This record gives sequence, structure tokens and C-alpha cells, in this order.
Amino acid sequence: MSVTDPQPPAPDAPGDAAQEALRDRIAADSLTTRRDYLRIVATVSGGLAVGGVAVASGILHRHGDSEGAPEVKKIADRIERGESLAFRYPGEEDRAIAVRMEDGTLAGYSAVCTHLACAVLWRNDRGSEGELYCPCHEGIFDARTGEVTAGPPPRGLPKVILVEQVDGSVWAIGTARSGESALEGFCRQNGDDRPGCPGFGAGGPGRKATERSERT
Ligand code: FES
Repeated sequence: MSVTDPQPPAPDAPGDAAQEALRDRIAADSLTTRRDYLRIVATVSGGLAVGGVAVASGILHRHGDSEGAPEVKKIADRIERGESLAFRYPGEEDRAIAVRMEDGTLAGYSAVCTHLACAVLWRNDRGSEGELYCPCHEGIFDARTGEVTAGPPPRGLPKVILVEQVDGSVWAIGTARSGESALEGFCRQNGDDRPGCPGFGAGGPGRKATERSERT
């Protein structure tokens, strides 16, 4: 088990246009073809792969309540099985944690406990596949879902939506609230008309054409 320091953003982090394209690509890959250079290995609860984060205080709100799309951010060159990584997302004050379970599943969460905001840690040697643990009052969260399994936390951990490229690099692309699926969070933050979201194809190109004609 290891918890490493946050890594600085990649020097070649994508700009706005590239981020936009990346989000579209992520959604398309995970929900349709999964062919190209982005490979979604895991995200978070519910088995939903979006291309691939409760509220005990104002700090926690930021992890899942942002209506806008957070930046796409490279968080690691690689995360090996049994390892964890502490990082900051979506903001530089927002503590988050990524864990790679022994079966290869990669999951990301807010590292701010939903009870009284202590730091959540990864314990790889507990249970069948490790657990997320808050030492302040013995709060425990399921590593695969983020849901509370023991202790006083009132809600599961908000999620950080993670994707992995074929070169092994790991990227954070968005957040989801406690109880919200990664797909729901992705669509809420990036637009319901993105590939894989409920509004995709429901008047997408047609709606834009209509909007254009209304403007002329
Ligand atoms: Fe985490 Fe109380 S602050 S269990």
C-alpha cells in the first residue's frame, strides 16, 4: 500500500478545446466503441463506466456539487494494483484519493470524510479488497462503491471520475455526488447531450440546426 504526494499537473495538460475533445472521446469510448487510445478501466460505484465524487461541510460541497465541468487533470503516470494516490481535485484545496484494487479496478473519491471532514485513508490489508478508512471516528467506506460500511459518516464519499489511457496514465475528468452514479455526474457536469447521456441524439444535431435557423 502506498499513499503518495499529489503530482503536479502534466506539462502537456490539454487546453480547453483539447479538454472538450477529450471528454467527448471518453464518453464515446466508454459507452460505445472503447477502441482508440483512451481505455476506461474503472470508475466508481454502480458498475457504470463513464469513460472509465456528503456534505458535512462547505468543503465537501465542492466535490460533487459543481454544475460546471471540472478540468481534465492528469493525476499519475501509473497506479499499480494495491496502491493508492492522494491528489487534489477538482480544486487545489479539494483532497481526493485514487485506489487500485487487486483485481485492477480503479476508483476515485473525495478524501474528505462525510462525517466531520477528516482525511480518508486507504487500507489495502483490510477486508477482501481493502477499504477506505477515516481514523477520526472509525468511519469505513466501501472501496468499490464509496458507500458507508461502518461508523458515523452519514453518506458515501463523493466520487472522482477517473479514466486511464493505454500508456497507464490516470486522469480525473469529473465528479459525482454521494449517491449519484458516475454517469449521472458526468452528464450533469458536461451536458446531457454528450455521447452516452440520456439526451444524446434527442435533438442534438437537429436541435442545433433548429437553433441556427431560429437565429437567421
Ligand atoms: Fe470521519 Fe468522523 S470525521 S468518521
